[in-house]
Amino acid sequence: MEMLGMSAKMHDEARQGEAFAPVVSGGNQYQKKFYIESYGCQMNFSDSEIIASILHNNGFGATVIYQEADLVLLNTCSIREKAEQTVRKRLTEFRKLKGAKPGMLIGVLGCMAERLKAKLLEEEKLVDIVVGPDAYRSLPGLIGEAETGHKAVNVLLSREETYADISPVRLDSNGVTAFISIMRGCNNMCSFCVVPFTRGRERSRDAYSIIAEAKELFNSGYKEVTLLGQNVDSYYWIDEEKDEIITFAKLLEKVALVNDDLRVRFSTSHPKDITEDVLHTMNKYENICKHIHLPVQSGSTRILQLMNRTYTREWYKAKIDQIRNIIPECGISSDIIAGFCTEAEEDHKDTINIMEYSRYDMSYMFVYSERPGTLAAKRYKDDIGDDVKKKRLQEIVVLQGRLSQESNQRDIGKTFKVLIEGESKRSANDWMGRNTQNKVIVFPKHIPDSKKGDYVQVKVIDCTQATLLGEVI
Ligand code: 5AD
Ligand code: SF4
Repeated sequence: MEMLGMSAKMHDEARQGEAFAPVVSGGNQYQKKFYIESYGCQMNFSDSEIIASILHNNGFGATVIYQEADLVLLNTCSIREKAEQTVRKRLTEFRKLKGAKPGMLIGVLGCMAERLKAKLLEEEKLVDIVVGPDAYRSLPGLIGEAETGHKAVNVLLSREETYADISPVRLDSNGVTAFISIMRGCNNMCSFCVVPFTRGRERSRDAYSIIAEAKELFNSGYKEVTLLGQNVDSYYWIDEEKDEIITFAKLLEKVALVNDDLRVRFSTSHPKDITEDVLHTMNKYENICKHIHLPVQSGSTRILQLMNRTYTREWYKAKIDQIRNIIPECGISSDIIAGFCTEAEEDHKDTINIMEYSRYDMSYMFVYSERPGTLAAKRYKDDIGDDVKKKRLQEIVVLQGRLSQESNQRDIGKTFKVLIEGESKRSANDWMGRNTQNKVIVFPKHIPDSKKGDYVQVKVIDCTQATLLGEVI
């Protein structure tokens, strides 16, 4: 089992198969209905909002009831084998439904579409449409083809596509926080990772379109944007009119300047790419949230080398030191893989040890899952047994539990500015929000006219491993 005892955050397979209707419902203006389920990373959820926009413009309205849909779409993830298995199961269920409703079309989008390509259409006969992450604009045409009984597939990757001009239809929105995709693809070639193959080369989106999207969101009442990319720190865009290079630090500043009341977050940072400039920019603007997701993957220099991460254990620790020196209050979280090829007990100890050193507030923790086509699959044997992988993951999870608990305990007595995101899932009498460090805080709705989207000062009086408990002051 992966991700044992995970704390509050959801990721990858943990966020699976969620279906959402758009914030602004389409009414009856649409002739046909589509249903979409998203799996995987935030990038995929953000892509589903682009897909919804393309479909809206082509006469399709969204529904959350798949039985009434003319088109059922699964936006899929390939990052670990388990993610793919989940989608396959789901496809079989939809296939059965299609037996009773032959006109219904089933489409697979995203990373699995890219990885498995026509195989999904031909061998398994599970689907009618297969569309890779860079080909969503061709979806309406492909639906047309599929309607005439042809199998439709487009998995071409692009060096340019950023969907910059498409205004996403916000799905599953709380109306307060939203994602903005700033770049696509990845050039890093970490040896375990399938993303460079499923999402293609890295490319950055036009900075003006990013800022325009942030402004539009703020003007519609949103109070927080998360700038998304596989590797945001390598954002690089040339403003040809002004002859200016826009780095990630500059982009961050420009988005922060949209409005003081618009919080800005970003994810994900590769430790090798996050610059001092970014850290200083974070410090300069109160509304840039003091949280960095800085995946370490492993604490062993030898394993890091096999993973092609391009940093050593010492280098990573120095990065943590630098962050803590420049932004003392910064929240730091991580991704960790247990049981990568050849990992010895000694390497695992190094991971345990670097977690202690980094004092992560939160981590996403996984066992290594070999992905066909990756460098690791080609070069190294997946030689750590399942039981050893699980045992090591369990140790990592237990340690993270303690680190999260300790981190939360250090916050008791402190007061934070919290953005109210909505009602607490557990009680209608409580609000749920986050502080700048990205920690979830739950507190009673005391103030009579407090509402979603408000900033309030909350004093922490207690905590669990996953949540701070507070009261409004
Ligand atoms: N096996 C296990 N975990 C993986 N990740 C990426 N590829 C794999 C894999 N093959 C994890 C990494 C990455 C996160 C998104 O998923 O930790 O940062
Ligand atoms: Fe999964 Fe990676 Fe694709 Fe996101 S980019 S959906 S995590 S394989």
